[in-house]
Formats: sequence, structure tokens, C-alpha cells
Amino acid sequence: MCAVTSGFAELYDSEPHAVWSAPGRVNLIGEHTDYNAGLVLPFAIEQRTIVAASLRDGDDITVVSTLYADPARARLTDIGPGRLSGWSAYPLGVAWALSQFPDRPAGRPAAGPGTRGGVDLFIDSAVPAGAGLSSSAALEIAVACALNELWGLTATGAELAHASQRAENEIAGAPTGIMDQFASLLGEADAAVFLDCRTEDTRIVPLRLREAGLELVLIDTGERHSHAAGGYAARRASCERAARELGVPALRDITPADLGRAARVLDEETFRRVRHVVTENDRVEATVRALGTGDPVAVGRLLTASHVSMRDDFEISTPALDLAVDVALRAGALGARMTGGGFGGAAIALIERERVAGLTEDALDAFSRARLPAPLVRTVTPSPGARRESLQIEYQVHGRLGAADQHAAVGGVVDRVRHVVHVSRQQGCLAGVAHSGAA
Ligand code: GLA
Repeated sequence: MCAVTSGFAELYDSEPHAVWSAPGRVNLIGEHTDYNAGLVLPFAIEQRTIVAASLRDGDDITVVSTLYADPARARLTDIGPGRLSGWSAYPLGVAWALSQFPDRPAGRPAAGPGTRGGVDLFIDSAVPAGAGLSSSAALEIAVACALNELWGLTATGAELAHASQRAENEIAGAPTGIMDQFASLLGEADAAVFLDCRTEDTRIVPLRLREAGLELVLIDTGERHSHAAGGYAARRASCERAARELGVPALRDITPADLGRAARVLDEETFRRVRHVVTENDRVEATVRALGTGDPVAVGRLLTASHVSMRDDFEISTPALDLAVDVALRAGALGARMTGGGFGGAAIALIERERVAGLTEDALDAFSRARLPAPLVRTVTPSPGARRESLQIEYQVHGRLGAADQHAAVGGVVDRVRHVVHVSRQQGCLAGVAHSGAA
């Protein structure tokens, strides 16, 4: 039995109804374009968040995670904007958003009346937080899939993505776009998800990495960030202000040919923000074309151009991310860029398989010489999106490990689950005294 299933059973004294999982994501290209109604090309990764869940009497939602020391319980009607903080704002926010899903969605079977009652959730995750891998979307989407089924909502993937985004924007207070939720839902093995964030048309774009002898390598700098504060919100505000000043609904409506006028209308810094978004949309389209014609050299060039644009125009890179990209290029990568919202997190490199070991060594060496903490360097595998798991799933191990390591890792997870069950009991989560922040 997997660790979340046994953790759930130990904590709540019954078997979960089912287990759902959703992956983190890496964005191949298309950064800070989603909230500008633009184009993105992310892929789901093998690291997943797993949720075991069951309906419970009453209307309390209980969330317990092996990753956080503070379990939470909130009455559905008490959840709302400004009332929650910390990790539990994400899963409780999804419950809040989905509790408002219409009873009779047009053209679909009605959700049963009164089905939106209490739920117990037990969560584990292999997606590191703050690394630019969208641990938040993995958590939201896994919980959204669980509630969709437990509450009989018949919500579509796009509706689950929007409910999750509302949780993130309105309950957790991070003004993020829609890319990560779609990537976590729709990812496929060896493929990226091309998403037009205006029309929400999606297309699966095969990557065919193995045939080309290529790997995608993630260099995690260990610098952590949160999009609920600071630079991310400032960049989004500046893009929205620029669109207003240029008289368009969103920066998606500005083309490279409009940049001359934009330079005359906008101040110098805002112009550079706009130039990043406009050229990045172009690079996403060019990357999709290059993947279609099997031209990894062109893809690599586009990735590196994207990094330069984020470093110099959008100014969301850091010295550690720039170093990761430089090292990757010097180690022979076809291209490299920081990935995700920026201000920390990870870079990604497209590189021939036989050069991966050299890149790993060079990165460790360069970071040590720059007196930066050792980065975590590992290949990432484009993987399937969210799904309901069988109750018998083997617990996922963190990364690729040998049999002996796997045994130890699973043992470690089981210990962690036991600890969380113990702490949750001690904190009285099950006695209902840990009513989370909600008034
Ligand atoms: C974060 C957000 C996304 C997107 C990226 C930047 O990951 O969650 O919506 O804006 O940053 O591309």
C-alpha cells in the first residue's frame, strides 16, 4: 500500500476513497507571457504531488501534508479572501473555488445537491517548493481532481485549472497566470503542452528527446522565492500598465512591428519589459516550429535568447541563474535558460546525453568557486499530467535511484508519514481545534 494511503488510514481511521496525483512542471519557453494573454510551452515532470481523500460528515475540510508541520481544518463557508495564509491556503482555496462551481453546468449532468460537504485529505509531494517547478499548481490540481470526483462536479480540465488559479490568486494572494495548472493537467510523456493563454487552445508538441540523444537538465540553484510577494507582482503590474498606455487589451496584441511606437510612448524600463514579452511570444512559436522540423540546434538558440531577454530586459534572473546558464553553455549545451517566475529557482539546459555528467561536474565546480551553495543537477523527464491513481500504486521515489536506495527512500517516506500522523494527532487536528486562520 502506498505511503499516503497508509498515512491517511492511520490518521483518519479509515481507508481513503481514492488517491489522485498531479505533477510539477518545467517551462521549456514562454516566460511571463501567460498573464499577458500570450503563448507558453511547458511540460509536466515526473515529480508529483499525491493526495489521498475521502468525504467526511459535516462541512469541514481537513488538510494534512507530510511536508508541513501545520495541519489545518476549516469550515467550507469560513474560507475566503484574506482569511488564510501558509501552505494550506492552496488546497483550502481550491475547495473554496470549487464549492462555487455551478450545480447545473450547461449541457452536463447536474452535480448532486448537497454534495459539497466535508473532505479529509492527506498529501505528500516530491515537487520541491520555490524551485520554479510549480509545487503550488501540483498541489492545487491534485486536490481539484480529488474534489471534482468526490463532489461529483463534472468540471472540465479548463474549469479545474481556473478554480486552482482562483485559489492561488484570491486565497493564497499570488497574482500568477494560468500556465502551470494547464501543464500539470495536460502533460504527456516526451511532450510539451503548447497553450495559447488567450483562447486556451492547447496542442501537445512531441519533444522526441530520446531519438535525438538529448536530455533536458535542470540546475536548481537552491535559491528560493515566493510569487505571493515582490518582483513577480511588480512585473505583472508593469505589463498591465504598459498595455493600458499602448491602448491594447493585453501585451499579446503588440507585435514586433509595434515596438518602435512602444519605444516612443513608454519609459525606457517599461519598454524593455514589453520587448521581452513580445519577443518571447515569437520565440515560443519559433520553438514549436523547430520542434516540428526536428531542429534541436534552433531550439537551443531560442532557449538561450529567452534567457538573455529575461536577464537584460525583464530583469528576473539572478547571478546564480546566470552562472547556471553560462556553465551549461560552456559544457556544450545547445541552449539554456532560467525557467519559471524568476528571482531564484532553476535553470534548464538542452544537452546531448553524453555531456550530462560533464555539465554536472562543471556546475558543482563553478558554484563552489563562486562561493554559492552546491546546485542540484538532474535530468527531467517530460511526463503525464494529473490522474487518479490506483490505491495499490508503488510510492514514487524522489528522482532516479537504484534498488537499495529506493528501499531506503520508501522507508524514509514511511517514517515521514508516521511522524506527520503523530504531529497531526498531537496538534489536535482531528479534534477540530486546529481551525485554520479562517474566522
Ligand atoms: C509562475 C506563474 C506562471 C507564470 C510563470 C512565468 O510560474 O505561476 O503563471 O507567470 O511564473 O512564466
